[in-house]
Amino acid sequence: MGLADDVEEILIPEEALQDRIRELGRRISTEYDTKEPLLVGILTGAFVFLADLLKAITIPCHVDFMATASYGDATESSGIVRILKDLNQSIEGRHVLVVDDIIDTGLTMDYLLETLKARYPASLRVCALLDKRPRRRREVPIDFRGFEIPDKFVIGYGLDYSGRYRNLPFIGVLKPELYGI
Ligand code: IMP
Ligand code: MG
Repeated sequence: MGLADDVEEILIPEEALQDRIRELGRRISTEYDTKEPLLVGILTGAFVFLADLLKAITIPCHVDFMATASYGDATESSGIVRILKDLNQSIEGRHVLVVDDIIDTGLTMDYLLETLKARYPASLRVCALLDKRPRRRREVPIDFRGFEIPDKFVIGYGLDYSGRYRNLPFIGVLKPELYGI
């Protein structure tokens, strides 16, 4: 018995994730070339993805993190976003690439992009591993996208349910009887 036994269905297996992330890393390396982008990971969910993405990028780049929280229950975002941890540096004149695990309603990323835009970056783009498009409430431009997924609550590879399951190496769907425990 292990954590993986709580999974109803594997949506994206480990190998497919890694293949796609290597491809994203190649594209980012080509497009940014000598621009020394600043990758901004959104904690906590994006740290696993960012770690692998970073290793697939072959140009000089920098890393920083922001942490956000949205009021609401475990599986629904309320749209009110708080910044719990801000960047350690100025982004004025920098090429910023925001890296997140998933764009769901888009409320978090929409808020973050507005906030970062006001700090005069040279460019501001978005890289998201997962795109849950059917749930979108704010239009968010995703410049580098891993996978489109259906309207299901997913766990693993950094994504949690009640703080658990971030350490699963694949993207899966939780067994329905485990919600609310
Ligand atoms: P949004 O503001 O609705 O786009 O979602 C913001 C955050 O909610 C994401 O960065 C995730 O941390 C979390 N989230 C959204 N959907 C899921 C999911 O299916 N599983 C786990 N976390 C999710
Ligand atoms: Mg998140």
